[in-house]
Amino acid sequence: MLRAVVMVSGGGTNLQAIIDAIDSGKITNTSIEAVISNKKDAYALERAKNHGIEGVCVSPKDFTTRVEFEEELVTTIDKFNPDLIILAGYLVIIPSVLVNKYPNKIINIHPSLIPSFCGMGYYGLKVHEGVLERGNKVTGATVHFVDEGADTGPIIMQKAVEVKFDDTPEVLQRRVMEEAEWNILPQVIDLIANDKVRVHGRRVEILD
Ligand code: GRF
Repeated sequence: MLRAVVMVSGGGTNLQAIIDAIDSGKITNTSIEAVISNKKDAYALERAKNHGIEGVCVSPKDFTTRVEFEEELVTTIDKFNPDLIILAGYLVIIPSVLVNKYPNKIINIHPSLIPSFCGMGYYGLKVHEGVLERGNKVTGATVHFVDEGADTGPIIMQKAVEVKFDDTPEVLQRRVMEEAEWNILPQVIDLIANDKVRVHGRRVEILD
């Protein structure tokens, strides 16, 4: 059984997609040991509670230095002895000590087709005065392993999503979540839980 810890900062719709996929059998061989948030009021913690999953808040605001926060974060994660750490909308930079301790055991969902649009604008598409500036026709989502860089780890799975002419950022965000994020994140967890993911340096092979 894959022991997963899910890290969150907000509403937790990706967490919900994982919980639902476990309940429906789309994800097999996996248990969520804990949900860890950097924000006390993250609705994701409510979702965890509603499903009988332990929720823990480790907030940088409760520590005087970054180092103390990071130490507490690592200690908290270690307690659950995870096989996989899932960043599901976790908006905190992951300490390198954690990355080094869990090589190829931390995955992240990113709301664009990495490496396009990394660090740019809203949802990977640059917004100017409320409209998508360049008229991009395609965006999507990526699940990747986390290394020490920002969104630079090996890519595991991606899904493209159409951008429509009159999309607002909110409409597009919803479509990316519905069509891509809530599908590929559970799929990747199931593949990892069933030993179907191999990392060859910077490339990832999915076994049939
Ligand atoms: C997701 O779009 C994720 O890709 C991004 O933040 C959002 C989190 O949403 N980094 P939720 O908390 O899972 O609802």
